[in-house]
Amino acid sequence: MAEGRFKNPVVASLAGIRDFFAKQQLADRLTDNDRAEGKTCLVTGATSGLGFALAVEMARRGARVIMGCRSQIPEAGERVKDISGSDNVEMRFLDLSRVDSIHAFAEGLARDKIKLDIIILNAGVALPGSRMTESGQDEMFMVNYLANVILTQLLFTGGVIPRTRGNGSFRPRIIFISSDSHQGSSAIDYSEFGIYRKYGVSKGISNYSYFKLVLNTYATELSRRINTGGEVRAGIHAICPGPVHTNIIKPAPWLLRKILGAIFSVVFRPPAKAALAVVYMAISPDYEGKTNEYLHMFNPKKMDPKVYIPEEGKKLWEESLRVWKAIDGDARIVQI
Ligand SMILES: NC(=O)c1ccc[n+]([C@@H]2O[C@H](COP(=O)([O-])OP(=O)(O)OC[C@H]3O[C@@H](n4cnc5c(N)ncnc54)[C@H](OP(=O)(O)O)[C@@H]3O)[C@@H](O)[C@H]2O)c1
Repeated sequence: MAEGRFKNPVVASLAGIRDFFAKQQLADRLTDNDRAEGKTCLVTGATSGLGFALAVEMARRGARVIMGCRSQIPEAGERVKDISGSDNVEMRFLDLSRVDSIHAFAEGLARDKIKLDIIILNAGVALPGSRMTESGQDEMFMVNYLANVILTQLLFTGGVIPRTRGNGSFRPRIIFISSDSHQGSSAIDYSEFGIYRKYGVSKGISNYSYFKLVLNTYATELSRRINTGGEVRAGIHAICPGPVHTNIIKPAPWLLRKILGAIFSVVFRPPAKAALAVVYMAISPDYEGKTNEYLHMFNPKKMDPKVYIPEEGKKLWEESLRVWKAIDGDARIVQI
């Protein structure tokens, strides 16, 4: 049975204390001269927390920002415009728990001939227990993992993410928002992969970190498949923003939410601050021509060793496509 690193949400949150005081090795590599004019940037889950802060910061640095969101349309976009001082911001509906919504979103971008330079796959949930999506998937598996597979595949096949050169010499960058809690999760258990099972709080937090390991393994395999022959066609990276004071604990039961809220308000960083490391990875020349890098806040690091095993990546690719095809007759796979 697959197991994540943490089984207790309070212990998981307390692990953030060390991160709160950690040195931010590359923090001064991002300066106000790092700009994003001429770049089109997608941020998923941009209505709150880290995603909202990312939309603001990317718009403030001159990018055209597309917010992929399932709620607060158009209010969240108007707030991003106000705070960033940029009008180059739009919102599009995207519910990552629904396959039809992911298709409609990707098709809309293709129809409007949008070419993305920067794709920040940020949306995520930490649910206190199992919840079934319309297509019969576990919601956390779907939103935190499979939806990102489906979306990236559709954006590549629709040409929304160009596989050759992006804007000028800038190659597209895809950033998967992960969590360092993936380190130490068990190997992927294919006997239960994509199968809905009921669970409660402790398995919920365990699954959260396990699905981030799955996500990082997919990011690594995607990078391997897109960037063949030693040429980087797209920079595909993962990052953990560290502990961030956001709405992620909102679905937790009342008492747990109060306890976690107290921890979050003391040792978790404001989203605007946490977003800077992601922005660094998204626009800095330091990442030009690079792929499959991992940052834990501003600190370069290796992901869990299991993430890099090629056979694991291949198996995950095949199994993800199998599950996708089972819930979607219109699954379209990137042909390299
Ligand atoms: N907070 C932390 O300490 C921390 C640490 C490590 C990693 N992360 C990662 O950071 C990312 C952002 O989380 P956050 O902390 O900023 O949490 P948050 O404030 O709860 O934001 C989550 C975002 O995801 C969106 N979302 C949830 N389900 C969705 C769906 N079905 N379709 C489309 N969008 C959906 C939410 O939209 P609604 O507003 O409509 O609900 C919201 O915009 C997540 O991937 C999380 O795993 C967070």
